[in-house]
This record gives sequence, C-alpha cells and structure tokens, in this order.
Amino acid sequence: MERKKSERQDARTATNYAQIRRTIIGRVKHEDIQAPTDGRKGVSRPAGPSSVVFARAALSADGLLKFVTEVGKTYPQICHFRLMREHAYILTDPTFIVEVFANSGRHTMKGRALQGAKAFLGNGLLTSNGDAHLHNRRLIQPAFHRDRVAGYAQQMAALTVAHEMTWKDGMEINMSKEMSELTLLIVGRTLFNSDLSGDAREFGEALVHVTQSMNARLLMSPRVVAIDLHIRTPRRRRLLENLSRLDQTVQNMIDEHRALGDVGDVLSMLVDSSDGQDALSDEQIRDEAMTFVLAGHETTSTTLGWLWVLLAQNPQQAAWLHEELDTVLGGRSPGLEDLPNLPRTQAVLHETIRLYPAGWIQGRRLLADIEVGEWTLPRGAMVFASPWLMHRSERWWSGAEQFRPQRWITLEGAFDEDAPKVPRGVWFPFGWGNRKCIGETFATTEALLIIATMAQHWSPQLVDEQAPAPLSGVVLRTKDGIKMVLHKREPLAELKQGVGL
Ligand code: HEM
Repeated sequence: MERKKSERQDARTATNYAQIRRTIIGRVKHEDIQAPTDGRKGVSRPAGPSSVVFARAALSADGLLKFVTEVGKTYPQICHFRLMREHAYILTDPTFIVEVFANSGRHTMKGRALQGAKAFLGNGLLTSNGDAHLHNRRLIQPAFHRDRVAGYAQQMAALTVAHEMTWKDGMEINMSKEMSELTLLIVGRTLFNSDLSGDAREFGEALVHVTQSMNARLLMSPRVVAIDLHIRTPRRRRLLENLSRLDQTVQNMIDEHRALGDVGDVLSMLVDSSDGQDALSDEQIRDEAMTFVLAGHETTSTTLGWLWVLLAQNPQQAAWLHEELDTVLGGRSPGLEDLPNLPRTQAVLHETIRLYPAGWIQGRRLLADIEVGEWTLPRGAMVFASPWLMHRSERWWSGAEQFRPQRWITLEGAFDEDAPKVPRGVWFPFGWGNRKCIGETFATTEALLIIATMAQHWSPQLVDEQAPAPLSGVVLRTKDGIKMVLHKREPLAELKQGVGL
C-alpha cells in the first residue's frame, strides 16, 4: 500500500517535471523575431584570433576575460573570430561601438546567450526583441522613474540598517553572500512587496543554483540548451526542481497581488495592466518579474562585493571615503536627500563599476548589414562590445588598472560622470538606447545607500592575502565568494592617525 502511494507520488512528480521541461524548452524556442544567420561567402572580414584560441579560452573559468583583454591589445579597432559555427566580431574602436549599439539599435536583436537564457528568464525585458520588447518597456518604464525609485529609498536604507545589525566586530563573513541576501531582500520588498529572503532561504538557494546553471550554459546555442534539457540526468532534475520552485514563488506573488489590489509596487502595475487593453498574461508577468529578480539583484550584489574588495585593498582611498561619510553623516543613516552631498561615495561606486562592470560583455545579432569604418558587418553576424575591455584600456584611462575614484571628481570637488573625459563608446556599464538598463537609477540609489550606511561603521578586511579573481559568467563573479573579516570603525582613532588624509 505504502509502496503504491510512493509510486503514485513519483508518477505525479514525473508528470510535473515533464510539464516543466516542456514549458522551459518552449521558452528557449520562443522567438519574437526569427534570428537570421550569417552564412555569407566571399565577404572580406577583419583579422582575429583563431577558433582554437577562443575555444581554449572558453574552457577555462577566467579565460574569456583574458581573451577579451588580449583582443583589446592586439586589435585596436575590430576583430573577427568563429564563435562555434557563427561569425562573430568584437569591436574595440569606440566609434564602431557607438555605430552598432547606439545608432543602429533597431537593426539589431539580442544574441544567442540571451536566447538560451530564456530557459530561465522567459521572454522578459532583457531577452525579448522588437515590438514585444518595446511594448513592455513602455509599460514598465514608469515603475523605474527617478520619482518612483525615490519612494523605495527609505526601505532600501532601513533594510540595510537591519542587515547591519546582524554584523559583529571580528566576525568572518562571505561578503558575496551578505550582499546577495541584502539586495535580494531589497528587490523583493520594493518591487514585489514580498519577502524573497524569508520564503527565502529556499528561494535564494534555488536562485543561486539557477544562476550557476545559466553561467554553465552561457556559450551553448539555444538549440544545444534545448537538447541538454531533454537528457535525463540528476543535474537536469535538480535544475527543473529549482526552476519550478522559482516559478511557483513568483506565481504565488502574482496571485497575492491579484487578491490584494494595488499596493503601489511594480508587480501591482504589471498585474493591473492585465485589465486594460495592453493586458499581460500571467506568463508574461512571470517573465518580467523573474527578469527583475535575476537582473536586479546579482548585478548590484556582485558590484558591492567588488567595492568592499577595492576598499580593503586601498586603505588610503577607504580613508578618503570615510572622511566624507563622517563629515556629512556623522554616524546617522543616510537618506536620498544626502546622496548629492556625497560626491566621493558616488566616485567610489563609479570607479568600482569601471573596474568590475557587472555587464562585462554585451552582444547583438545584426538584422541588417552595418558599415563600420572600412568594414561591412553582415546581417546575421554576432557583434560584441565589452565594458571590461574598454573600461580597463590604457588608451583611454591613465592608470587604468588602478583604483582611483578621484578621476570622477571635478576641480571644485563635485562628482561628474563626464570628469574622466573619455570619448563616447568607452564607458557603457549600463548599455545603450532603449536597451539601456531600466534599473540604473534603482541600482545606483541602492548601492549608494548601502555603502554610505555600512562603510560608516565597518571596514571589512580580506581574510586571504590574495583577493579572489573575477570570473566571467552572466555577471562578473567569484568562484567561492569573498571571505572577509568585519572590523568596526573608530572614526576618531583614524583621524588621529591621519590615515591618508
Ligand atoms: C550595478 C547594477 C547593474 C548593472 C551594472 C546593470 C547592467 C545592465 C546592462 C549592461 C544592461 C544591458 C544589457 C544588454 O544590452 O545586453 C542591463 C539591462 C537591464 N537591466 Fe540592469 N544592471 C544593473 C542593475 C539592475 C537592476 C537593479 C535592475 C532591476 C531592478 C536591472 C534590470 C535590467 C533590465 C530589466 C534590463 C533589460 C532592459 C531592456 O532591454 O529593456 N538591472 N543592465
């Protein structure tokens, strides 16, 4: 009898998995624009690294970052290489980058990695194309308007203070995990009025696993991702379990919002739109919500992780930041109104994003031929531009590899994003045009409030002498997180020692 019951249970779970698998494969195959391929013969293509060099780089964890850096040194304008069976280009001349990414946006679509990522993200803002993207972008844009983000600031600061209360002097922490939990909590509360880190441990774990799976499949073509999902392995089973956990949590949030009515968050707005002409289906709402969870927390949390590493490695710069925080805030929690008075904090964040741009590579597939300089980039080709490469090039930045937040400060002591005076096409951490990060204001407000709160009281130090190396994934990550030990700051003692001021 017992056995029959467990067999029935197994059969039910198997049907569930079959359903989830079908849904996911359906997502990968969904194309709002059919992707053209570049099979053109006899076209003249610029020189570039061999496919063996690329394949070798793709096989090692930090290989792609090194590959891109090497490309920047060897090919000062453009290079061509074979990405598996496709023709691909990396642009290293800023005017070429502007031509493809800014001026020709409507002749491009997202590339193969994001098509594969639809397995997880569905067809949300990050992955969709053409009219479907434009429609939803217009619908969602107001939720990320500066005024709306201002309304989230108080919660961002309060959640940071609450998180900080769990920290103790001398405690050893994994800073990546700390920042990931905090930013997930903030995204959940502000955008969905839900506690994603209470329901959460399970949700958080599922999210980490799904993100790792996305990293592992980054270079697979969408077809290979679909085939991979067909093959029965324990790995696939775990992925399906975690995806269905994420789907279920998001579906519960949608149901709750339908029952509650408008609670003034992003999810209310999406659910509300279902009554109007522009109606979004539950599936579309899920896709957008999942995109915000994934795009909105991993990016900011890894950026903050790198910021703590850079402060620990550069005590003089940390002291320069501390001086501002002590003077302007004097120990109290910051609010939105304080941010314009914290130019050094803004400079430290920008310098971190310069050295560790979460969106380290951006790719497009061309929907039409595009001319750059003497070259014709054919319709169907994949084209890449890398903030990692352009933000770290000595051609544009003096002391490019060094952490020098002062480059963002004017002679009058103000923060100015144009202060480094680099040409257009060199600095693009949040992307371009109508594909620009919708969460930029949200992310910078959140990160500034977190640093201003925490760096006032804490000066975390690296446990290992060697800082963790960046690895390329969906964002710039570390292998096992960032081990740090917490030191409570004593502002007066620092002043007496005159640390770096
Ligand atoms: C430091 C933090 C962040 C960085 C560096 C970053 C970077 C980027 C970049 C480079 C893109 C463009 C990708 C491309 O063109 O292929 C992008 C798009 C996007 N980001 Fe962010 N992001 C951050 C935070 C956030 C946050 C907090 C959210 C949401 C709460 C968010 C949501 C999105 C969405 C939805 C898109 C797609 C926009 C579209 O195509 O219409 N991001 N982000």
